[in-house]
Amino acid sequence: MSTTTTAVINLDVPGPTISRHVYGHFAEHLGRCIYGGFWVGEDSDIPNEGGIRLDVVEALRALSIPNLRWPGGCFADDYHWRDGVGPREDRPRMVNSHWGDVVEDNSFGTHEFMKLCELLGAEPYVNGNVGSGTVREMSEWVEYLTRGDDSPMASLRREHGQDEPWKVPFFGIGNEAWGCGGNMDAQHYASLARQYGTYVRNHGENQVYKIAAGANVDDYTWTETLMKALSCLGCSRTPNNFFQGLSLHYYTHTGPWEDKGDATSFTREEYYLTMKRAARIEELVRGHAAIMDCYDPERTVGLIVDEWGTWWNVEEGTNPGFLYQQNTLRDALVATVHFDVFHAFADRVAMANIAQTVNVLQAMILTDPDSGALVLTPTYHVFEMNTGHHDAQQLPVHLKGDLPTREVEGSALNLLSASASTKGDTALVSLSNLDAEGPRTVVLDLRGRAVSAFSARLLGASDIQAHNTPEVPDAVAPVLHTGIRTHALGLEVDLPAHSYVTVSLELA
Ligand code: AHR
Repeated sequence: MSTTTTAVINLDVPGPTISRHVYGHFAEHLGRCIYGGFWVGEDSDIPNEGGIRLDVVEALRALSIPNLRWPGGCFADDYHWRDGVGPREDRPRMVNSHWGDVVEDNSFGTHEFMKLCELLGAEPYVNGNVGSGTVREMSEWVEYLTRGDDSPMASLRREHGQDEPWKVPFFGIGNEAWGCGGNMDAQHYASLARQYGTYVRNHGENQVYKIAAGANVDDYTWTETLMKALSCLGCSRTPNNFFQGLSLHYYTHTGPWEDKGDATSFTREEYYLTMKRAARIEELVRGHAAIMDCYDPERTVGLIVDEWGTWWNVEEGTNPGFLYQQNTLRDALVATVHFDVFHAFADRVAMANIAQTVNVLQAMILTDPDSGALVLTPTYHVFEMNTGHHDAQQLPVHLKGDLPTREVEGSALNLLSASASTKGDTALVSLSNLDAEGPRTVVLDLRGRAVSAFSARLLGASDIQAHNTPEVPDAVAPVLHTGIRTHALGLEVDLPAHSYVTVSLELA
């Protein structure tokens, strides 16, 4: 039976801007993300530019990726950038201890990454090494990347074929310092972040937005310690001398760490549990943001959710250290739930990076290791459908009437998730029906501005486990949605069970 909910949206009362950077990405030297995913090498039969796969680049360009985080993750604190510059044949090799214990030949390094960013039209977010690197090494990397004169590192870059300095707007001061990035306690890392951050300098016109390695999940003590140690309320320097962003990592899985759940084979109860876990991002963002508010009431420091997404057991037969998993309609809804929260907290969440872009965890693209065939995942389509939210102004959505919920693990899971934004004379409304059992009709009570035209797109499938493969690439792909009509209050939208709908409005 279909039931009705009303979503009140004041089109003329926009809130803060939703930074396009919440649609950021993450590419680590992990499994087949870089090697085989982005990078095939110049001699490959797969069409490439300087070794970078052009089919992957072309597909990702439709997402308008705003920034790309690299080289890790855990790999970042093992990575020594000097090993990845200069002639490829001379580059030293290393062991990628975190991810499969494989030998890394460093053929994809700084220049290749910057070329990839250029091809994607994405801004680089480079993550430095605190765990096993030196202050000097980090400082010199930034000099190498961004300095324009004849300084030692700028000259070295020129020797390696790049005359002009690059722009590097985002730089991470280590990663997961509480774990793979050095197993530090918060106070120790805070001191190191101050030290390392001091030497991450602005060269020429390049202004670096420094991101300190933040908390895992609900480690509020970590956030509090970092904010206290780094923001220096009441002293003469501004809160953002040492850093401008503080990260947060949160992954969605249903089982314990050792057995996180299967990517494609799950029960309805596991589906709802997944949605419950995904919705927890709201509690986490709210909690960390509240602590940040105490030390940074002006909200000058961004909460950077630079690792998020689903983490399932690896696909059978694949290297357990490569974190390769399929991606279903369930994953797409995990993404829509996250974006609704990032939109709602637009005044604090300055950036977010899904883990990861190709072939690892909740990927946009899966490539076949043998044939090279490329598949766009359901999550890819959410990113594409949401490009209209990039740098748009948030519009609060007030839900009223019949608000569907379901009890999961002893508390209520909201089965309807929504957000909206406006840019100029347009608006975009996102509606997720998380109910796997039934459709829902939502009335959009649109106030403040007249709507001159509307259209809707639907991402759904008859089966919540539906996913795309080389054989059936469009099992989950957006279609024009005809279940939308005018209503006395604005519009009326039908949401099939377990579906995502975007409504585009032209405003008079
Ligand atoms: O994204 C995979 C890994 O998850 C990252 O390398 C690490 O930072 C996190 O634990």
